[in-house]
Amino acid sequence: SAAGKGTYPHYMLKEVDEQPAVMRRLLTEYVDDAGQMKIDPAILKAIDDADRIYIVAAGTSYHAGLIGQSLFEKLAEKPVEVHVASEFGYHMPILSKKPFFIFLTQSGETADSRQVLVQTNRLGYPSLTITNSQGSTLSREANYTLLLHAGPEIAVASTKAYTAQIAVELFLAVALGRHTAIKAAQDFDVNHELALVATGMETLLSEKQAIEDFTTMYLKTTRNAFYIGRGEDYALSLEAALKLKEISYIQAEGFAAGELKHGTIALIEDGTPVMAFLTDAKTIDHTRGNLQEVRARGAKTLTIVSEDHAQAGDQVVLPNVNPLLAPLLGIIPGQLIAYYASLQRGYDVDQPRNLAKSVTVE
Ligand code: G6P
Repeated sequence: SAAGKGTYPHYMLKEVDEQPAVMRRLLTEYVDDAGQMKIDPAILKAIDDADRIYIVAAGTSYHAGLIGQSLFEKLAEKPVEVHVASEFGYHMPILSKKPFFIFLTQSGETADSRQVLVQTNRLGYPSLTITNSQGSTLSREANYTLLLHAGPEIAVASTKAYTAQIAVELFLAVALGRHTAIKAAQDFDVNHELALVATGMETLLSEKQAIEDFTTMYLKTTRNAFYIGRGEDYALSLEAALKLKEISYIQAEGFAAGELKHGTIALIEDGTPVMAFLTDAKTIDHTRGNLQEVRARGAKTLTIVSEDHAQAGDQVVLPNVNPLLAPLLGIIPGQLIAYYASLQRGYDVDQPRNLAKSVTVE
């Protein structure tokens, strides 16, 4: 059944491997053969009427929101703020005149996110929930719902829901941008670009051995680890570090590459793993410079780089895709590093200590 483990040793590995199929399923759900988005025009109108999108979420969904922000800004030219639900609910910033709320939640049941929705409903603001769970609380209580169609996600560490959230944000951003005649959205060939992503994911998933080897060498016994990047690569670093924390219990931090030198670089010692995402053309050279700085202090580095920008010595090469969608590929090695680190350290991959799949208390 869809919820079984099949021949897989762990749900997490199964769910990681399902991601290309989820991307293709989402194309059939949301995009027609002519490349038009199948999204309720009422949603587009409601967002178009708003002057700002507020994305509210927790954990991995929050990180998917950070990627969504650049999709909405670049493809629909819409201002976006992304907020951690537990912070936003009690320390609400001064809102724009006409806010539109997007709740990202795999389960649709996260209490931190729900308490924000209760408030925005009371204030009369329109909202959309993007969730994997039809009929969930946040779906029922928001004005609109878009489903992730990722199939049941059983492992506590979220993987396919993250990439599905980014894909659904893409569909919405493209639809919204076309609704308002933004050229970047009109020119974006969703069927083609996301099909390339699915194929690229398959390539990366067929090269697990290299990731496992790096993990054995540098993460099996380390106390701490860093992911660094800039822009979307920074958002990706946050998610990759969260995966590592959740299931391998390594103290991992996702860090803005340029900010390292302003304090955190003091933590680098002989053997500290520092892994860098290099997909943002504007900043790759600067981040490479930061890698040199940490290597000079003993760090063991891993580069995860888009094919176009790869150099001799780079370790993980991401097949070329539209740069806006690079995070969909970049996170795959991040998920696999966490998986192998957890396995090698002898932990329960699918049921990590102290964590629950869905947290229904604030
Ligand atoms: C829990 C899970 C995380 C998840 C977060 C938000 O803490 O352990 O993996 O990212 O909740 O969950 P949601 O269902 O709202 O996406």
